[in-house]
Amino acid sequence: MADRPYVIDKMISAKTIAARVEALAREIEVAYAGSEKLIVVGLLRGSFVFIADLVREIDMNIEVDFMEASSYGNGMESSREVRILKDLRGQIGGQDVLVVEDIVDTGFTLKHVVGLLQSRKPRKLMTIALLDKPTRREVDIKADWTGFEIPDEFVVGYGIDFAQRNRNLPHIGKVRFT
Ligand code: IMP
Ligand code: MG
Repeated sequence: MADRPYVIDKMISAKTIAARVEALAREIEVAYAGSEKLIVVGLLRGSFVFIADLVREIDMNIEVDFMEASSYGNGMESSREVRILKDLRGQIGGQDVLVVEDIVDTGFTLKHVVGLLQSRKPRKLMTIALLDKPTRREVDIKADWTGFEIPDEFVVGYGIDFAQRNRNLPHIGKVRFT
């Protein structure tokens, strides 16, 4: 499927993303005011650019950890079956945690990850997603913060891939088959 030729139409510019990331960081600082340490958990691989920019904007004592959950494989459609491919290295019991996701689509991934991490009894667990496609939702979940709500389009860039390609694009674009 990824062999079909396609072009990428710009949707959200790098400058717009940077401004939004800065604003979100200010809100996160307020939400976790007084916290001794914030553990920022990135969901691999799509969140790696977002988390890199986000943590550099947050003026707090931060630790970074990663998890990998699979739901998409190499296609454009969620499998709705979430598997944990890589778990956190550190403990989160009693800690302040922020889960960072690239896109909330059907919602299966975020719902599964939040359920799993909540079972470890963090002191506070909140979620942030760069993008949200609300019209695609199949399970009841919403990130505490969303960068941008977008329509039902397949997007790439700023860490997000199509069959592992286009993650290095500095902006968000939508895939259009030609
Ligand atoms: P969900 O479990 O259906 O919410 O899927 C969320 C995951 O699907 C995201 O973390 C992405 O990895 C992937 N995904 C959803 N929409 C897109 C897209 O438009 N482009 C690339 N990956 C996507
Ligand atoms: Mg993902």
